[in-house]
Amino acid sequence: MRAESVAPCRCAVTERADLRLGRWQDVLSDVECDTLIVDAPYSERTHGAYREMESVGRNAISYGCWDSADVDLFVAAWAERTRGWFVSLTDHALARAWETAMLGAGRYVFSPIACMEPGSRVRLSGDGPSQWSVWAVVSRPKTRAAQAWGALPGGYVVQASEGWRGAKSAGGRSGVMGGKPLGLMRALVRDYSRPGDLVCDPCVGGGTTLLAALTEGRRAVGAEMDPAHYECARKRLAKGYTPPLFADSSAAQQEQIEMPGMAHRGRDGDE
Ligand SMILES: C[S@@+](CC[C@H](N)C(=O)[O-])C[C@H]1O[C@@H](n2cnc3c(N)ncnc32)[C@H](O)[C@@H]1O
Repeated sequence: MRAESVAPCRCAVTERADLRLGRWQDVLSDVECDTLIVDAPYSERTHGAYREMESVGRNAISYGCWDSADVDLFVAAWAERTRGWFVSLTDHALARAWETAMLGAGRYVFSPIACMEPGSRVRLSGDGPSQWSVWAVVSRPKTRAAQAWGALPGGYVVQASEGWRGAKSAGGRSGVMGGKPLGLMRALVRDYSRPGDLVCDPCVGGGTTLLAALTEGRRAVGAEMDPAHYECARKRLAKGYTPPLFADSSAAQQEQIEMPGMAHRGRDGDE
């Protein structure tokens, strides 16, 4: 897609959400945030694998892949404007590039965290292991206040009730290739931000991260350059998320599960 063909516009979807159409480079230059959570395009390794599988019925990814130069540009632009945690979901091939860029920006970077969805991305060709994981590369500023945030989970497992088979009752997938389960994004939002914080996602896709932020009582801002994806996100945010009243028991149970993070302390270290 030619990003220049999209006329930047601004759209405040709800009181707490600000969703903008256009490239983040063009439409978010005035934004600073408390927490940044991004699920940017993955590497050529992932995008190429999807292209190869088109002949056996898997959809190709409609947006271009990223390389380490894209990651460098992104982190250089956002590290200074992100007051707290910086979380990037990515594939194994780009995880090191995110880590290197965050280190270069003077942040404290943790080893990548696996986000597992058992049963996902089965190898339709029957050749070897499926790919159940994406990686969250996370970093924080090197301040005493950020260091006192509290212990966090070392991984996330998407439950069947919120994965492909249970997506509807658990808030639905975004409909965008690469869209993430709402439950996973809600857990990340809970762990890496506080109520009332401004969570930014510069590559919104179908809006799962922003919807998760709103659902968890945060404020949300983001951009999406593909008009169809933008429209999908706009509709989802306008509708909001209501947990199903009569969900099957596993989905209902999932709504109640807290990821096993410790109780959070205030950003300034207060209890
Ligand atoms: C992996 S998808 C995000 C999926 C999303 N997390 C969800 O659950 O629906 C990545 C998105 O980033 C968008 N994107 C890529 N580069 C961008 C840029 N420079 N500015 C804004 N959006 C961008 C793509 O159009 C795509 O929709």
